[in-house]
Amino acid sequence: MLLDLAGRRRVLFFGGKGGVGKTSVASAVGLAQARAGRSVLVVSTDPAHNLGHLWERTVGPEVVGLAENLDGVEIDPEATTDEHLAAIRETLYSVMPEHLRPEVDRYLALSRQSPGTHEAATLERIAGVLQMGLASYDLVVFDTAPSGHTSRLMALPEIMASWTEGLLRNRRKSERLGAALRGLARDTDRSTLVDDPAHDPLVERDLRIRRTLIARREKFEKLRDTLTDDELTSFVVVLTAERLPVLESLELHGDLRAAGVHVGGMVVNRRSPGDAGEFLAGRRELEDRAVRMLTADLPGTEVTELPLMPGELVGADAVGRFADVLG
Ligand SMILES: Nc1ncnc2c1ncn2[C@@H]1O[C@H](COP(=O)(O)OP(=O)(O)OP(=O)(O)O)[C@@H](O)[C@H]1O
Ligand SMILES: [Mg+2]
Repeated sequence: MLLDLAGRRRVLFFGGKGGVGKTSVASAVGLAQARAGRSVLVVSTDPAHNLGHLWERTVGPEVVGLAENLDGVEIDPEATTDEHLAAIRETLYSVMPEHLRPEVDRYLALSRQSPGTHEAATLERIAGVLQMGLASYDLVVFDTAPSGHTSRLMALPEIMASWTEGLLRNRRKSERLGAALRGLARDTDRSTLVDDPAHDPLVERDLRIRRTLIARREKFEKLRDTLTDDELTSFVVVLTAERLPVLESLELHGDLRAAGVHVGGMVVNRRSPGDAGEFLAGRRELEDRAVRMLTADLPGTEVTELPLMPGELVGADAVGRFADVLG
């Protein structure tokens, strides 16, 4: 099912609890698709950067080749936040009077620490990488960070788009107020008048702010449209066959559906063999129970089971063997 799903999509997200195998499964699926002849980009949004660890090579903010038809890139939240704040500084500098620049710097230094800044920055970068990926590759695979933030990340484009819309509405109101005040000034004090509204610095400033806000809103709307387009994008939840991961994955499934994201399936990873001794057979029985709990709660959802691989899953050969077991 996993390769079927991947074959019919252009964007795949892999998410789930920490350490369940998101990076390994995302890379294996990417490799399998690359072998089938599609050009694939694997994107890690994980601060721990384990795409590089898995492939035993340095993967950074620039795209690098991992295998034939398969490239990788890692989004660094710290660097992304720096770039994000630098862009905001530039915009604020351009629209604020010069004497307020120290104020702007103080505000930005505070923003760096405030909740949501990393998320917003990561989201902007995801939007950018996704746009680039869709233009240059057949398939873009996202290996997301291990946190409850993933479903929030999926809902965020919608939130950011409405938030920017709100700002635009407020600006329209203050523009009307500004125009009225300027009209008043025109009547009372002719000497402060700017006759040509096209060269009124306030009007120009408002236009610049408006353009920036509209560009931002469009970016988030585009991202939201891509994330919620069933035919283009799907989300795969990776988990291990244990009670708590099952419960958390059910919750993630629900959150994603609520955010309008198509959940293409669940991958139960690291399944113990039933024929390799009593100890592992016992584990497998426990795992079976967890898998039954998962399928009972999600009838109709595709569940793929992947085996516990022998040896360490590190390096291109190991990823290749993992891709072999996908079917
Ligand atoms: N099917 C498997 N068989 C054996 N080992 C596996 C399997 N899947 C993953 N692993 C190993 O489990 C560990 C965690 O896997 P991986 O890094 O892919 O998980 P992750 O969900 O991306 O983790 P994180 O949340 O830290 O990013 C790694 O050491 C990996 O080699
Ligand atoms: Mg990982």
